Amino acid sequence: MPTKSKNPFLPFGDQQRAPWYGKDILTVKQFSRADLDYIFGVAHEMRIMVERVGTFDLLKGKILANLFYEPSTRTSSSFNAAMQRLGGAVIPISEVKYSSVAKGESLPDTVRTLSCYADVIVLRHPEVGAAALAAKYAGKPVINAGDGVGEHPTQALLDTFTIREELGRLENLTVTMLGDLKYGRTVHSLARLLTQFNGIKLHYVSPDILRMPRDVMDEVAEKGIPQTDHAALDKILPETDVLYVTRVQKERFDDVAVYEKVKDAFIISPEVMKAAKKEMIVLHPLPRVNEITMDFDADPRAAYFRQMEYGLYVRMALLAMVLGKA
Ligand code: ASP
Ligand code: CP
Repeated sequence: MPTKSKNPFLPFGDQQRAPWYGKDILTVKQFSRADLDYIFGVAHEMRIMVERVGTFDLLKGKILANLFYEPSTRTSSSFNAAMQRLGGAVIPISEVKYSSVAKGESLPDTVRTLSCYADVIVLRHPEVGAAALAAKYAGKPVINAGDGVGEHPTQALLDTFTIREELGRLENLTVTMLGDLKYGRTVHSLARLLTQFNGIKLHYVSPDILRMPRDVMDEVAEKGIPQTDHAALDKILPETDVLYVTRVQKERFDDVAVYEKVKDAFIISPEVMKAAKKEMIVLHPLPRVNEITMDFDADPRAAYFRQMEYGLYVRMALLAMVLGKA
């Protein structure tokens, strides 16, 4: 991936020591195992710093353009908070209808514009490949915050970081992905990312029409990771270490009647979870609709609210890295 806008004031040695400086973050496919260890190390340090001092000036004077063409609570506010906790500033564009996008401005022109004012651009967009397209035209690093049904790489990084912090390891785990595996971009990124770790076994549980896409399964198979498709959860829940629950992505359905038929296909409740291990975790990228009942939230295995907090630390790490400060 080419490096953008090398900082002429950063001594050459520092540029070498900051290998992520100026890089786009578009897909989990760009990360090696060593990269992941590095990101998680920086994220862990960010966690300690936030817990000790709250805010510090690592990115003072830097500006993030937070450009969201689709709704978001966690991703947009955690990137915003991450930048502010590192002493930087944010241009928030969450309502593109109030920007010149509403006048017909193209994505390339919009990111060219923001490149004049900001040092890094975070983009969420309904079309697959939008972040890659934006990266071609932006003079500043672009971070993919979800491109349609494509990928959500920063979510997969925070999901993996959560597993590491909660279970203490990323090896020898049985991970069960449940729900809308067809349209859910988070599972497309996570399944790919988990292929980096030894001893991972993947189970997919979904309604027939929402199965994991063939291309993702082919990529996982190429890495030699065992994966199996299921129509029901009961047989595999007892061996599961990480149950990754997803929302049926209503906004991706052409026919709302089809959505209605599958929306409540799987519901996780304290009753269902009696069959699961004591030492395991339940994750969900959120937002939740009906997939997990609220009376499960107090269970220590319910890690989804802690998961969104870990997102702050991972996004702080990523911003520091692409801005040459980690
Ligand atoms: N927030 C996640 C996403 O944007 C998951 C979801 O919306 O269900 O992909
Ligand atoms: N997990 C996630 O991307 O949440 P938001 O859609 O609220 O950003």
